[in-house]
Order: sequence, then C-alpha cells, then structure tokens
Amino acid sequence: MTTRKGIVLAGGNGSRLYPATLGVNKQLLPVYDKPMIYYPLSVIMLSGIREILIISNPNDRPIYEKLLGDGARLGLKLSYAEQASPNGLAEAFLIGRDFIAGESVAMVLGDNLFFGHDLTTSLETAASRPQGATVFGYYVDKPEAYGILELAADGQCLGIEEKPANAKSNWAVTGLYFYDNDVVDIAAGLVSSRRGELEITDVNKVYLERGDLHVELLGRGLAWFDTGTHEDLLDATHFVSTIQRRQGQFIACLEEIAFNLGYISAQDLRELAKPLAQTPYGRYLAELSKRRSV
Ligand code: TTP
Repeated sequence: MTTRKGIVLAGGNGSRLYPATLGVNKQLLPVYDKPMIYYPLSVIMLSGIREILIISNPNDRPIYEKLLGDGARLGLKLSYAEQASPNGLAEAFLIGRDFIAGESVAMVLGDNLFFGHDLTTSLETAASRPQGATVFGYYVDKPEAYGILELAADGQCLGIEEKPANAKSNWAVTGLYFYDNDVVDIAAGLVSSRRGELEITDVNKVYLERGDLHVELLGRGLAWFDTGTHEDLLDATHFVSTIQRRQGQFIACLEEIAFNLGYISAQDLRELAKPLAQTPYGRYLAELSKRRSV
C-alpha cells in the first residue's frame, strides 16, 4: 500500500534566525517569493500524499490555518496540530498518532527545501515501500553539522551518527522520512536525549537494528537546503530566484502541482490566480491554465 498520510513539522524556536523569528515562525518567512512551508509541502504533494497534518507552535497555528486553510482549494485534506515546545522531531508521531491512524506516514521538516532531477522517482519509491523506513542521504561538505550515514560499499546502511567529530562519510540524513506504522510505537518508547529531545536518529536506529532502514541517496543533480541560518536562507532564496527566472518555471508552486496531479481543473487554477494577479506567481498560474487547458 502506498503512503497516504504526511506530516509537515513546522514548530521550533528558530533561534538561529533571531531577531527575524522573534515575532514570526521560521517556516512563515519567505524563501524568495513564497512562504518557506510551501517547499516541504510540495515534497509531500509530489509523493502523492493528500492527507497532511501541519504541526506548529500553538501561537502560530492560526497563521498556518489562514495561509493554507483546509486544503480543499488544492484538492488536499489539511489538518493542524500543536507542539507545545520543541521537544524533538520524533514527538511528531505522538502528536500525530490519531491522524496517522494505523497507516504508514511520511514526515518532512518545515525548513527543508528539495529540488531537482529524479526527486519524484525517489519519492515514489519511498512512498510505495510497504514496510520499514526510508531516509534520504545527501552528500555534504561539512558532515560534522549533520546526522551522518555510515555506508557499506554496496550502499547498505551500517550506522548513523549525530554530528560526528570524525565522520565516516559525507552522506547526511535529510529532513524527509518515510515510515511504516511501527514508528508510532517506536516514538512512544523513546527517552529524551541529553539535549532534552525525542531524537529522530533514535527512531532510525531502531529500524536499522531491525534491518529495515532503507537509504535513498540523492544525486548531485538535486539540491537540498535547510534554511536554519541567515546565510542558508539567503542561499535558498538566491537558488529559487535563479532557477525560476532562468527557466520561467516555478519551484514549489502548490497550485501547479495540484493541477498536474489532476486534483484541480484549469478553471480552478484561473480562480486561484486572480487574487495574485499583480505578481509573477499569479501570472504564472494564469498562463498554466491557458497552456494546458483545451
Ligand atoms: P532546528 O533547526 O533543529 O530547530 P529550530 O527550527 O527551532 O531552529 P533553531 O535551532 O535556530 O532554534 O529544527 C529543524 C526543523 O524541525 C525546523 O523546521 C523546526 C522543526 N522542529 C520542530 O517542529 N519541533 C522540534 O521539536 C524541533 C527540534 C524542530
């Protein structure tokens, strides 16, 4: 069975982005022309998932609801939940237990941006895996800043180390995960780490010990950013701006993805374009509706 449930985890303090995030949640900041959360949400949509839980801080929940609503205009079913404080990524599966309701689930971090060649294929492979966990490895220059995979010559995962001083590889674990339903019980059995968080790495280690952790290595034709610092945010903004203006094709345009997946019609797209008519984004939607509708 394919994965039908998705979580976007958009809480956190965003303390590395202070003072920009003193008054607004990190994932509401723009990356070039759209709110940051559009990017991880697009990844969940490209995985073919339509039932999506957005987890945020209590104060920010009304803002996410205002921004994205119930998702019906995009052919999605969106719901919302709160994380009282940043108790770790794995807490998402406890907060989302009722939402997950016995099924498998994908989770993406609200500050992660993925774009590029063969992404959809990798997502489809993970979403259609009936059992176990899938994480995505990305080759990075500074492994000491990430969760790092130890890999055998045949690509099999031998271990995961959190921010190692002497990394065994340059393959970082990205903020996108697919799990079977066991993840809920695994998360419930975790104890908080020394930094006081329920660690996603500990979840992944349980799957690894079971021989059920699958690793998809993302190639160099793919871009992965997290937008945790001011420099990261600026890099991501420049990247999106460069690609969009060069290609005239938009990254993480949720309306376009919904249209391409057949969730909404050309007429729906025209309606969605109207309030954005003053912007390149709105004109892009209007053009799309003309190009592809006969
Ligand atoms: P981090 O970048 O680790 O934390 P943060 O966003 O609070 O930022 P900072 O370190 O600057 O204070 O979080 C990675 C992503 O996961 C980000 O999208 C926020 C989200 N997150 C939660 O939603 N809940 C949590 O408990 C944690 C730890 C992170």
